[in-house]
Amino acid sequence: MVWGSGKSRLDRHKSLPVSLIDPLTRMVLTRCFDHRRVAATLAIRSAYSQLTIYHSLVSAPNIETIVSLAKRRGFVYPSSEIYGGLGSAWDYGPMGIELYNNVKQSWWRWMVYERDDIEGLDSSIILNRKVWKYSGHEETFNDPLVDCRDCQARLRADKLENGKCPNCGSTNLTEPRPFNLMFQTHVGATAEDDPDALVYLRPETAQGIFINFLNVLNTSRRKLPFGVAQIGKSFRNEVTPGNFIFRTREFEQMEMEYFVKPGEDETAHQEWIDACYQWFQSIGVSSDNLRLYEQPREELAHYAKRTVDIQYRFFPEREEDERQWDELMGIANRTDFDLKTHSKKPEDAEGKRLNPDSTEDLSYFDEQTKQRFYPYVIEPAAGVNRTVLAVLMDAYSERTNDKGETRVILKLHHAMAPIKVAVLPLAKNKPEIVGMAKAIKRSLQPLMRAVYDDTGGIGKLYARQDEIGTPFCVTVDHQSLEDEAVTVRDRDTWEQERVKVSDLPTHLLAKLTPAAAAD
Ligand code: GAP
Repeated sequence: MVWGSGKSRLDRHKSLPVSLIDPLTRMVLTRCFDHRRVAATLAIRSAYSQLTIYHSLVSAPNIETIVSLAKRRGFVYPSSEIYGGLGSAWDYGPMGIELYNNVKQSWWRWMVYERDDIEGLDSSIILNRKVWKYSGHEETFNDPLVDCRDCQARLRADKLENGKCPNCGSTNLTEPRPFNLMFQTHVGATAEDDPDALVYLRPETAQGIFINFLNVLNTSRRKLPFGVAQIGKSFRNEVTPGNFIFRTREFEQMEMEYFVKPGEDETAHQEWIDACYQWFQSIGVSSDNLRLYEQPREELAHYAKRTVDIQYRFFPEREEDERQWDELMGIANRTDFDLKTHSKKPEDAEGKRLNPDSTEDLSYFDEQTKQRFYPYVIEPAAGVNRTVLAVLMDAYSERTNDKGETRVILKLHHAMAPIKVAVLPLAKNKPEIVGMAKAIKRSLQPLMRAVYDDTGGIGKLYARQDEIGTPFCVTVDHQSLEDEAVTVRDRDTWEQERVKVSDLPTHLLAKLTPAAAAD
């Protein structure tokens, strides 16, 4: 079942000049999109003394557009490129790592600092192999694999359309067989085939939290309900990785395990679904491109009572609406499966311990009711890389003026922008202007990510900052030397205002964090 927004975006009008959009459609567009987007699509603006009539795209038309921007502007590069690359591995460049860190910091702040009931953790990537035995991953963390007998492609059986090889169209495929997604390695200087040395790179961060449940409970003296959050790398030997950073073999997860009393799990689950949906909007992802997807019973993981995915419209170019969406995060009710399975006490019908290897019992004693039980777990689990992709796609916009020149503007939420302000000298051959611009940049540096740039004419410099999503450009000109004021240009409106240098830090901080300024 699907719900949420997912409105049609009247895509076919996106590339029409404003003058060709009829008044009725213009009215519909005005009602469909939020204020920011309507303004971006239909406004006739005077931008720094030039009247520009423009239309724009309101998010990326496809992932390929982002791949190209990402490489051009230093967000994401294909990994190991000088050696021919490594399938589906990507490196984050100077802009990419800033955005990536902003996503993680925003999640951590929201999840840990702004609440009273969550602790943080950073567990090992390589855990004792038994963790993955009792979690069920050794047995069940498989994808059904088929081979195409005609072109030898290896494919996921559950992703085939009409039972055909997507490579060559053949239906001459092998029977599906399970393929375990965990990467194996060996610890210590032992033989490659020594089973005692076999370990896995973790395929999810969650298990590191479960095995530390008692440690966190005892050291933080928490009472239910409470959660433990972790951000870290996970690894899956995906059969068919692809679509840029959407599905890779190495990726990063932001997971939180929220422990509740059995019986309180369903309410807590719904609250986390709603909260996560709002969090994506709070970092600038439009609800037009988000929806909730209720996993049907047959799709549920072995531990889950109910799972709801938040999906993003990663593939807007696909004709059929249903095929435009894919998972951004999952929010699962994992019941008491994990704490029980890692505990030494539970027994089968014959009184045999289900886990003879564990040395601890991960149950909880409720002082009020004097009862001991295994807490239920609600798990919001998001991918950092997929969030970065959704944020980039959603922020992408194009603006074409009446001369037919198209500009890319990355309308990132201020908190996501890699650079908050660029200080630009209007004349780079005037030492006084350059000196003043550099001094202003240095004074802003402790407060926000600021850069100085004089590597082009002012138009080019603005265009470059628009493309990487810098919310504000500060220009130092001849007049600045006399009136100690600078021009502050807004990325989204291209409007400019004159601000005294002494007021600049407060002026910019108020614009970048309006909520903090209002306090
Ligand atoms: N602990 C639960 C868990 O790992 P999941 O749905 O398999 O659940 C959670 O993963 C999130 O991690 C996904 O919603 C997705 O954002 C991200 N993710 C999973 N596999 C990925 C991959 N191969 N590449 C990039 N991100 C991935």
